[in-house]
Amino acid sequence: MPRVVTLAHYYTQPEIQQMADKVGDSLELSLFARDADADIIVFAGVRFMAETAKILNPNATVILPDAGSTCSLVTQTDVSALKAWRESYPDHVHVSYINSSAEHKALSDWIVTSRNVDDIIAHLYAEGKKVIFSPDRNMGAYLNFQHGYDMPLWSAVCEVHDKFNQAALDEAFAACTTAKYLIAHPESPLPVLQQADYVGSTSGMLNWIKSFDQEPDAVIFVATEDGILYNMRLARPDLKIEQAPIYAGCQCNSCPYMKMNTIEAVKRAQAGQGTEIDYLTASDMEAARLPIERMLEFSQ
Ligand code: 13P
Ligand code: SF4
Repeated sequence: MPRVVTLAHYYTQPEIQQMADKVGDSLELSLFARDADADIIVFAGVRFMAETAKILNPNATVILPDAGSTCSLVTQTDVSALKAWRESYPDHVHVSYINSSAEHKALSDWIVTSRNVDDIIAHLYAEGKKVIFSPDRNMGAYLNFQHGYDMPLWSAVCEVHDKFNQAALDEAFAACTTAKYLIAHPESPLPVLQQADYVGSTSGMLNWIKSFDQEPDAVIFVATEDGILYNMRLARPDLKIEQAPIYAGCQCNSCPYMKMNTIEAVKRAQAGQGTEIDYLTASDMEAARLPIERMLEFSQ
């Protein structure tokens, strides 16, 4: 019998998370995939995550349950245009967010996740390096604002987080009669991040919730994909945890790509059927592994 390991991102539905050996954010899942003693890794997440797992554990068969599970940060980035952009900054270090294709990673010097982006970029600036950042414009703008960096930015956004809206947030805050807090993922727009009490990765936000010890009747607004609210409410059923509002007329801030991981698709993948990540060239895999390993080494 093949050894099958199933990984699920926090943004998948609760029933998918219950089918997984490991649930986590993108950094935790990358590390777990790298170290997994598995013949088959089923990645209930999105394609760039499954590609990262394949790059880090090339002997395993990595299966994405649904071929359509992409990410807007990937689809909004044309790799040949990115290559020209990168070449126009020959004396800069190119830092790329993990939400990028394998080809994109192969053009990068460092990969970061939302968990270690702050520390890695601070480390590069401390060494006197000049940095360009791709593909997430919102995350880059926040880093520039927060630390006074001057990084040129690529311009792609997460179509889910980009919907969070300052005006809608102001209204929700005004209507709230108790204490209120906002925690946000750095893929959200800058005006929203500027109002946040905490900005961090999916796991960072979950840990913030777990250790919350302020007013017991406070409302905590969460600006990220709605899947994680399940884990937050499970961890702290005593708290009032609410989705942060998005712009008027728009109802949904669920990631459509994460939600393609249905029970049937994951079961099929566990039986060895689905989209196998078998199309990456050896040279792209090798070139992409270097900046990912640089990050993993830095983060351990
Ligand atoms: P994390 O790195 O927090 O898991 O985020 C991944 C992601 O796709 C956020 O939209
Ligand atoms: Fe990509 Fe946004 Fe979905 Fe995360 S939530 S996978 S960044 S589209």
